[in-house]
Amino acid sequence: MSLILSLILTGTVAASLPGPQHAKMIAVDMNHTLYWDCNYTQLHSPVNFTVDYTFSHEVSYKPACAGSSECRCDLSRFNLSFGGEYKVRVRAEAGNQYSNWTLINFTPENEVQLSSPRVNMKADRDMIILTISESVMSADLTKLSNSVQYWEKLKPQQKHTHVDESPHVLLSSLKSQTEYCVQVKIFDGIYGRTSNYSSPQCVYTTGEGRIWVWLTPLILLFGSAVVGAFIYVYYKCKRNRSVFTAPESILVVSSVPLLKEVQEECCTIAHVIPAAIPLTRRVNEEQEQEEDDVPELQAPESLCHWSDGTVHDSGFSSGKES
Ligand SMILES: *[C@@H]1O[C@H](CO)[C@@H](O)[C@H](O)[C@H]1NC(C)=O
Ligand SMILES: *[C@@H]1O[C@H](CO)[C@@H](O)[C@H](O)[C@H]1NC(C)=O
Ligand SMILES: *[C@@H]1O[C@H](CO)[C@@H](O)[C@H](O)[C@H]1NC(C)=O
Repeated sequence: MSLILSLILTGTVAASLPGPQHAKMIAVDMNHTLYWDCNYTQLHSPVNFTVDYTFSHEVSYKPACAGSSECRCDLSRFNLSFGGEYKVRVRAEAGNQYSNWTLINFTPENEVQLSSPRVNMKADRDMIILTISESVMSADLTKLSNSVQYWEKLKPQQKHTHVDESPHVLLSSLKSQTEYCVQVKIFDGIYGRTSNYSSPQCVYTTGEGRIWVWLTPLILLFGSAVVGAFIYVYYKCKRNRSVFTAPESILVVSSVPLLKEVQEECCTIAHVIPAAIPLTRRVNEEQEQEEDDVPELQAPESLCHWSDGTVHDSGFSSGKES
């Protein structure tokens, strides 16, 4: 009642209820759905819709959706044939009010979109083998082809196209160890039906150069092991030094040449490591630091002299004692 009142008040009496606007069929493969604008919310009574369809040469309509509040109607279950011409109509209903029918023609062979194929990729050294899913429309569309677009991932502006009727496509003469991307669309040569491209999928071609992918972590691991060994030897020597200062008796007993070897080893390492620090400092802070550098450089030397000294001293003292 309030609907009628408002329609009278606004002066739009003629069409008691506006018909559905912008009705259109969206057909993908064998899925056929009618959509229309869903803007009846300003009306106070709830609005439902009825959809009918007919094969174009028949007179009577068959119901597809009746009294539904949804603004779409799925006609897939009626298996509309690909070669048929259909009329589909929809109207709005609210209480006792009916809108006029909104009518559209639907001819699947002119309107059907194909769904994008699924693509399986297998990469080799210089080729990629694609297995492309078959379209459910292949019974109606006998001249279906796959249009394959592929490119190096780093050169997306250089796309290559390969058309093939077979579901197994070989992309050959590719670069090894290179990432390639692929997208495929289906098209039909007779009716001009086509799918969108599938979303791009990428894969690396193989090749012996890829061994670096495995070798790099190994080299890094080996490198850190070497550095670790150096640090270990350095600190071990430092500790040895402090151990060997006090007990002269040990020096007497143990073979002196062996000890000397260890200490020489320590000296070499001690030289290498602190020497690197003054070099970088000189670059940064110029001459001011050079005075400081001298004692730092001397530090390892004095350490060596000192350890040599102990050996000599112990040698002498042990000689005196014995
Ligand atoms: C729905 O919107 C269209 C414009 O997009 C308009 O012409 C039509 O009258 C509206 N329908 C209703 C029932 O308001
Ligand atoms: C309109 O749709 C609603 C919900 O689907 C349903 O309950 C109601 O009975 C329908 N009305 C008519 C007139 O079909
Ligand atoms: C194809 O792409 C267009 C634009 O992105 C989209 O509107 C349409 O729904 C797509 N068709 C299919 C079958 O996915």
